[in-house]
Amino acid sequence: MADRRKPEVAVIGGGVIGTSIAYQLAKKGVEVTLLEKGLLGGGASNAAAGMLGAQVESDFPGPMVELCLESRRMFPALSRELKERTGLDIEWNGSGLLRLAGDSEEANQLEERGRWQRERGERAEWWNRETLRRREPDLDSSLVGGLYIPDDSQVSAPRLVQAFSQGATLLGAELLEGVEVQGGVVDRGRVLELTTSIGRFSPGSVVLAAGAWAGFLAGELGLDLPVVPVKGESLAVRPTRPLFDRTLFGNGCYLVPKADGRVIIGATEIRQDFTPGVSGEAIQTLLAEAFRLVPELREAEWLRSWSGVRPGTVDGLPYLGAAPGFTNLWIAGGHFRNGILLSAVTGKGMADLITENPVTTFTPFSPERVMVSMKGG
Ligand code: FAD
Ligand code: GLY
Repeated sequence: MADRRKPEVAVIGGGVIGTSIAYQLAKKGVEVTLLEKGLLGGGASNAAAGMLGAQVESDFPGPMVELCLESRRMFPALSRELKERTGLDIEWNGSGLLRLAGDSEEANQLEERGRWQRERGERAEWWNRETLRRREPDLDSSLVGGLYIPDDSQVSAPRLVQAFSQGATLLGAELLEGVEVQGGVVDRGRVLELTTSIGRFSPGSVVLAAGAWAGFLAGELGLDLPVVPVKGESLAVRPTRPLFDRTLFGNGCYLVPKADGRVIIGATEIRQDFTPGVSGEAIQTLLAEAFRLVPELREAEWLRSWSGVRPGTVDGLPYLGAAPGFTNLWIAGGHFRNGILLSAVTGKGMADLITENPVTTFTPFSPERVMVSMKGG
């Protein structure tokens, strides 16, 4: 029996990123222990709306949109694979996403976005006011149009975390909840030990996947990793009848219809805020925006509200790769608004990197870029 205190790889953080990496490593036969200070998914991941918004969240072309598209493409097969292995349905829904324009300026911006995305080879269709009214009759008639993105899809974020976690466990990984990593012993670029709330671990390699908290832990290991926490608040309602099938994305909120009839309405963005809970102002603003887009939502049943802290970065790109100056420390974080979407490519790519398969698509995301520039001033 393997010594669980000396796994080949220790993953710190049991969000969608840590559990996806643990799952992919376990699939390769690597002995993994994941350490989560709270509950699996209890950070940002279970707070997410579950959009796989590779196109809607991308304002311009570049390596980030390429990574997002690659990850989005992986989901249909990943969903089948997780169902076969765990019996869990992650509720992948391919009915597309509609980004709405309230005035002609927004319409022009969206039409421009549609143009570059079509040039890139993706599908993006402009719907004018008449088309919008015909296809989505319950939307407010003042909306001037929308960019329909048929391939941006969605999943249930909590189910995805659960499926990665169960998949990893079934493959032999050990996922420990309620275990906080407090620091470590580092010698000549190697993490020799992790100190935790239940004692010491001596892993062969360490993956830092601690979301918005990764910067604190990196500091304990002697690294300066700039992570920008961005709190998000959301709520859920249940309309009296189905009002729309597609995810709607407006200027001040998005509305994500779920398999069980709920609609998730999100989300605020508050930088440098780790506080739990949801303010009355957030609820008021999100509901007002939602009612502006779909007036009949006023009659929907109130369900609940929640919040999470997104892990942002200084340049908007995630940190994926080896920690500079270390031989056995890896960083997977900073996924900001797209961690659910990017979990597929991150898990697979990080497992490949750790098992010494180069992943060229990760080159633009190497953590070295911020650490080197910080050292150089
Ligand atoms: P987390 O889920 O926060 O996981 C990190 C984990 O590390 C936590 O569970 C934490 O407890 C643990 N940890 C921290 N420190 C330690 C320690 N010292 N020891 C042990 N464990 C530790 N993304 C999308 O793609 N689509 C969406 O629709 C979407 N909607 C969102 C809506 C909201 C309201 C929010 C807040 C986010 C949304 N996101 C969305 C973003 C997405 O949720 C994040 O990018 C993603 O969850 C980040 O995953 P993570 O695993 O890095 O972080
Ligand atoms: N991607 C949606 C959010 O972060 O709120």
